[in-house]
Amino acid sequence: MSVVISPSILNCDFGHFADELARISTADYVHVDVMDNHFVPNLALGLPLVEAAVHASPVPVDAHLMIEDPDRWAPVYAEAGCASVTFHAEAASAPLRLAREIRAQVGLALRPATGVEPYVDILGEFDMILVMTVEPGFGGQSFIESMMPKVSRTRKAIRDAGLDVWVQVDGGVSRSTIEKAAQAGANNFVAGSAVYRAEDAAAEVEALRQLAAPHVH
Ligand code: DX5
Ligand code: ZN
Repeated sequence: MSVVISPSILNCDFGHFADELARISTADYVHVDVMDNHFVPNLALGLPLVEAAVHASPVPVDAHLMIEDPDRWAPVYAEAGCASVTFHAEAASAPLRLAREIRAQVGLALRPATGVEPYVDILGEFDMILVMTVEPGFGGQSFIESMMPKVSRTRKAIRDAGLDVWVQVDGGVSRSTIEKAAQAGANNFVAGSAVYRAEDAAAEVEALRQLAAPHVH
């Protein structure tokens, strides 16, 4: 399984959007957080900015939809050119049907209090499971280490089913936390402030990749 590094642009300098995207050319995806001020207490990025990212980014777009009505909107983000679209389990009324409607890679996101167990029988419908390592809504929060058992259970359920599904972690991922997440079974790492606060964002992506690699099999 490969190591995938997906910097989040949530706290980038939007006054220089194209330049900020160009800084992460060593990444595998750019992670774009969409928030509707209902599912999470914050409003950030909508379809026009996601479309701008699709056109300006040197790497494919990984959209993370923190919105209340993904059944309505998730397919639209795929049509807009996102390579990957992740919606939240807590918000989708019919996650299996929605997964089949999205014409892109599909991810299922779990808030910290949401277990993976109810979704074990439909893991094969997804390309990725996102285990949130913060309560979604804001960048710059601390990594919740108590999510590591859920990362491990998710990876085990995927292996037991003989599937090839990525496990993504998002929130507080940095040089000091990425190895724990990789050891637990994650292979896809979203890092917002760790990458965008670095002097050399592209080098930071590579540093994170090197730390995770020995633990990802
Ligand atoms: C939080 C978002 C994250 C956020 C990560 O709700 O989903 O993608 O931007 O930022 P850091 O890495 O700073 O925690
Ligand atoms: Zn995110």
